[in-house]
Amino acid sequence: PFYKTMFGLSELEETIRSHFGLSQVVIVAGDSETSAQTKRELGRAGCQVLNKVMRPNDVVAVTGGTTTAQVSSQLVSNTPLKTNWFVPARGGLGESLDYQANTIASTMAKRTGAQYRLLHVPDHLGEEAFASIMQEPNIREIVAVIRSARIVIHGIGDAIVMARRRRLDGEIIDAMQAEGALAESFGFYFDRKGTVVHKMQTVGLRLEDIVNTEVVIGVAGGKSKGEAIAAVMRFGHNDVLVTDEAAALEILALI
Ligand code: BG6
Repeated sequence: PFYKTMFGLSELEETIRSHFGLSQVVIVAGDSETSAQTKRELGRAGCQVLNKVMRPNDVVAVTGGTTTAQVSSQLVSNTPLKTNWFVPARGGLGESLDYQANTIASTMAKRTGAQYRLLHVPDHLGEEAFASIMQEPNIREIVAVIRSARIVIHGIGDAIVMARRRRLDGEIIDAMQAEGALAESFGFYFDRKGTVVHKMQTVGLRLEDIVNTEVVIGVAGGKSKGEAIAAVMRFGHNDVLVTDEAAALEILALI
């Protein structure tokens, strides 16, 4: 496209990086929504970032999604990462098995010779069930590991797309929409300014854990996600954004 020949992707990376105060932005060419090849490259770029930031003894928390699945299926390490742990960032969020955080965390660990722990907690827990599950020693232990993560790698989605994918009640979706929800990440729903307008009560990372995580890496692309990505960047706790050209051009038009 015109923009690319005028400025190039590295200028686009720098413009987005400095606008949101990120430490790094990586943009792969193309649109991962329409090209499977671009989606794979997005995943591969995510792997490169992750490999660069990981240190011995790190706990890495990962979310689910088709994009982090692309990261997990391409992750490799020269030496086994025996002291590293991969854990799901949150409990079950109603994703199909292939795209659940548990699956992605275990794939990453198996491919790199690292350790993993899984979190088996269902969605939509009522107050009482939530409180009693949080008393379980096994659950408490894994939740403590998750909350100690130094690195979080997560996908970003459109709020309504994700709410439907998780089969949230129509009423909740309407209420969220009325509040301006347009982005979703970690089970949190954000409005345009990056304010959280709805949360799903699941076990795992809380908002305050994300705020305090040393390295937060977002991996998301596709033209239709531009606005959602910008909203999550405005939330302001990401360090790295890995995206594609199509989303980046949408983001550019918003800043
Ligand atoms: C979910 C994550 O599993 O995937 C979310 O919990 C993210 O953080 C979503 O918004 C994105 O999914 P995809 O398939 O578009 O990468």
